[in-house]
Amino acid sequence: MLATLQGQPGDYTPIWLMRQAGRYLPEYRALRAQAGSFLNLCYNPSQAAEITLQPLRRFDLDAAILFSDILVIPHALGMGLDFVEGEGPVLPPLPSLAGFDRLDFAGFEQKLAPVYETLDILRGKLPAGKTLIGFAGAPWTVACYMLQGHGGGKFEKARQMALANPQAFSTFLLRLADITAQYLCSQIRHGADTVQIFDSWAGLVPDAHFHDWIIAPAARIVQTIKARYPDTPVIGFPRQAGSNYTRYARETGIAAMGLDQNADIAAIPDDICIQGNLAPELLLAGGDDMKHAIDELMQKTMHRRFIFNLGHGVIKETPPEHVADLIATVRAFKRSATA
Ligand code: CP3
Repeated sequence: MLATLQGQPGDYTPIWLMRQAGRYLPEYRALRAQAGSFLNLCYNPSQAAEITLQPLRRFDLDAAILFSDILVIPHALGMGLDFVEGEGPVLPPLPSLAGFDRLDFAGFEQKLAPVYETLDILRGKLPAGKTLIGFAGAPWTVACYMLQGHGGGKFEKARQMALANPQAFSTFLLRLADITAQYLCSQIRHGADTVQIFDSWAGLVPDAHFHDWIIAPAARIVQTIKARYPDTPVIGFPRQAGSNYTRYARETGIAAMGLDQNADIAAIPDDICIQGNLAPELLLAGGDDMKHAIDELMQKTMHRRFIFNLGHGVIKETPPEHVADLIATVRAFKRSATA
């Protein structure tokens, strides 16, 4: 996977899946029940490392993704955070953009120490040849939760605050980008081979603001990482960016780009390394429809650098056997060497 990210030619298709660790695995549910809460699990280094490794024990995956969440950034900045059963994350929202100034920047790195310890453990346990992926949420997506206080809708209140003062909001995002870059650099220092920036809600941003709210913060993060760790590739995932995908890749300096299931691969120039974009629903359903879709995706990406993944995370009702089937189908596909 690192060779693909670093631009080396080859005939191998690396594969990993977003949310490859999680509730569709009985061994995850067992540890989760023991831990009491999801956040406890995120901050327990030995358990978080174990959960990170669970899918690699079952499946022939090329990478492990750190088990954590994008919302540990607001949490480490002193915001409350709770994962409510059946509802997802809940935070006491910032009352205004100025609320950012009152966050706890001094305590930030210390609060995230358990995440770094998880990476230290993983670095020692991960078999050679497997890639360790670190990650963070992109400033826009994290800001949506910080300003709205919860998911489950389209972040109307957060978007209203952003649109009411786009200039101040851009500044807010760039400051969040600096914190995020610092966090990702620490993850790299603790052993992450690559890092992914998850911008799950990029598709909610109007084209007129796409540069300032999505591209500029990601570019800032990439620039900081490149200055300190020039050999560490950054993967960007501006989900549902539609016609803005190519611009995002060109203007941020990322090494590879994640694509959701609706992205048009043919519209993205061949020199851009891509990752994705099988619909998670096809994995949920499994069987011949899934296998045909995998073959089609492999055909479409034969001639270019490609990392196999889903267009979004594994759905929690997915039978684990379907994941084994998916990987076997990808492995059986004969690919010609890419230039
Ligand atoms: O991919 C992985 O296996 C690594 C771990 C990971 C989690 N969340 C674990 C998790 C990663 C990379 C994330 C990223 C994340 N978290 C995103 C971006 C990717 C995406 O899904 O769009 C977002 C938006 C979040 C915020 C978040 N965390 C939500 C909205 C929820 C609730 C929805 C849900 O699926 O439960 C979470 C909780 C969460 N994050 C769980 C897991 C395994 C479920 C917790 C549980 O109840 O056990």
